[in-house]
Amino acid sequence: MVRFGVIGAGHIGKRHAEMIERNADAQLVGIADSRAKELLDIEKYQVPFYSNLESLLAGPEFDVLCVATPNGLHASHALAGLEAKKHVVIEKPMGLSRAECENVIHKAMTVHKMVFCVMQNRYSPPSEWIKSIIDQGILGKIFMVQVNCYWNRDDRYYKKGGWKGSQKLDGGTLFTQFSHFIDIMYWLFGDVSDIKATFADFNHSGLTEFEDSGTVNFRFVNGGLGCINYSTGVWDTNFESSLTVIAENGTIKIGGQYMNEVEYCHIKNYTMPQLPPANPANDYGPYKGSAANHNYIFDNVVDAITQGGMPTTNAMEGLKVVEIIENIYKQNPFLKSKSGALEGVLQTR
Ligand SMILES: NC(=O)c1ccc[n+]([C@@H]2O[C@H](COP(=O)([O-])OP(=O)(O)OC[C@H]3O[C@@H](n4cnc5c(N)ncnc54)[C@H](O)[C@@H]3O)[C@@H](O)[C@H]2O)c1
Repeated sequence: MVRFGVIGAGHIGKRHAEMIERNADAQLVGIADSRAKELLDIEKYQVPFYSNLESLLAGPEFDVLCVATPNGLHASHALAGLEAKKHVVIEKPMGLSRAECENVIHKAMTVHKMVFCVMQNRYSPPSEWIKSIIDQGILGKIFMVQVNCYWNRDDRYYKKGGWKGSQKLDGGTLFTQFSHFIDIMYWLFGDVSDIKATFADFNHSGLTEFEDSGTVNFRFVNGGLGCINYSTGVWDTNFESSLTVIAENGTIKIGGQYMNEVEYCHIKNYTMPQLPPANPANDYGPYKGSAANHNYIFDNVVDAITQGGMPTTNAMEGLKVVEIIENIYKQNPFLKSKSGALEGVLQTR
């Protein structure tokens, strides 16, 4: 039995708790959150509640700490868990800078514990399918890759006083909304260079401290050109997250709101197999997130700890996604003025 503690009992921390409880080989032993227990809707979990990480770590014996706090706290909470000799599951993104992620990796190596990054979209049937055909070389040389992420995040999502929208705790649209898609791109095609980026803020004045939209282009180190177009400024509801690949032997587009459907596949001497249906997206009421695949993360953690398996998304991959996002933001850094308008002169984020 693998024993888990969860820090951060918000939307996603509760999902971790639920998935642990549903896993026959996992046991939830404690939950910590800085908010009062009454505000968290966690009565169904019959485990001790702690008001901070230190008391959770000093409390029950357990093996794995799940970090589901705001992005800007991931690295420090993971470091504390590792220091206490726990394996750690870190929600996406692994941290908000490469340097933070390096500290986590270094600590994990010195205490001989594993780091599992949460990138559950990798388990979606279209993701697993495209990964397999790229790994088999079926597409040949990759010419161009286009990632489009057009979602809605408005005042129903960004609440006054919350961490979402804050530079320090959220970090930016690419970290919070679109790191899953950058992870899929990195997982499929590898590292990028020659990044050029332009950002804009169309309709998040007063809601966020950063951009809502951007266009980014780059080269893949393995060959080919890539671009990411993204926005959270879409009116009312998510529009799409898609990946288009133009390659030597064919063309693929994976689309749908959450990269959950193969929209186009035309490859030389290849017949598209029937894929199992994708899981629905996480539903947060007025807005929707990425695929509800967290159960696979906990199967992987249990397997890695009890059977010697490997993390599906390891710490180096978590770091690379953070590094790519950091490098994108470095290309054209800006700060919003108090009124929310973008200031023209380049400034450090
Ligand atoms: N994998 C996914 O698809 C996915 C989806 C949504 C969110 N996330 C990630 O999960 C994390 C949490 O997001 P959320 O939507 O659940 O946010 P949330 O605001 O609903 O939950 C965060 C929780 O952390 C608690 N918290 C804040 N500071 C704390 C501290 N110092 N100590 C203890 N608890 C503290 C808050 O009180 C809150 O309950 C974020 O990093 C986010 O990027 C991942």
